[in-house]
Formats: sequence, C-alpha cells, structure tokens
Amino acid sequence: MRKDITKYNVHTDKWGKLVALEGNGEIPFNIKRVYYIYGVKEGVRRGFHSHKKLEQILICVHGSVKILLKTPDDEEIVTLNKQNEGLYIGPNVWREMYDFEDNAVLLVLASNHFKESDYIRNYDDYVKYYEKYVREKKQ
Ligand code: TYD
Repeated sequence: MRKDITKYNVHTDKWGKLVALEGNGEIPFNIKRVYYIYGVKEGVRRGFHSHKKLEQILICVHGSVKILLKTPDDEEIVTLNKQNEGLYIGPNVWREMYDFEDNAVLLVLASNHFKESDYIRNYDDYVKYYEKYVREKKQ
C-alpha cells in the first residue's frame, strides 16, 4: 500500500479559487455517489470498515483530518488538509478517520451507491476476507 494522493488543478482568478473534478477524469472512476462528513466532535474516531468493491476519493474541503489506512501487511496515516488534494482508497483497505479539526468537512466521492453488503465492519472479519479473497490475487 502506498499513499495515493492526487493534486488537482486550481483555477485561481481575482475572484477566488475553483477546483473541478470529473468522473473518469481527475477521478479515476464514474462517480455514483457524493457524501460529506462534518460536525465531528473532538476525540471522535469513525470509519472502522473496509469495502469489498467500492472505490472512493476523500477530499478535506475545509480544515484537516487524519486517515489511518491499514491492510494485514501494512499501515499508514495520511493527513488531509488541502482543498485540492484527493486520497484514493480502493477496495479491501481498512480505514479509520480521526483528529477532525473543528469545522472540518470531509467530502467523499464514491464509485457506487450505498450498499451495506459491500461493507466489512469488523476487523477480524476483514482480515479473514483479505486472506481468503484478496491476498492470492495480489501475488
Ligand atoms: P458509516 O459508513 O458507518 O460512516 P463512517 O464510516 O464515517 O463512520 O455511515 C454512517 C451512517 O450513514 C450509517 O447509518 C449509514 C449511513 N449512510 C448512508 O445512508 N449513505 C451513505 O452513502 C453513507 C456513506 C452512509
């Protein structure tokens, strides 16, 4: 696993800044869902899941947030604090989000509609799933 961060082009003019993102362009999939997380209280940690198929891009459009990315082999922490930076998270990566700055807004672009059956919400189940279906494909 390695940090998969893309810097987006910012259109700056005398009126301010604008970032434009297109599905299958800057975003490496067809965007089927957008959601955003905000109003997260101090000390809260959320996420605690992986997805079997879903691909996502996370952009902290205001403030900052830390993201823990984890597989059975690897772990890293990414700080998102730039409005023109997107973090790609593919399938089968465990994630936790924490240290939300006051008023932080985390925008998420997703490759599919919400489907609870695509989630794995228990870490031990995630490791079992990874060993059974993911690891052999990676070798
Ligand atoms: P959840 O994915 O558990 O949030 P997080 O991983 O950030 O802790 O989602 C929180 C709640 O919102 C849960 O009840 C499911 C609901 N939800 C939707 O209805 N649609 C969505 O697209 C998402 C992401 C969540």
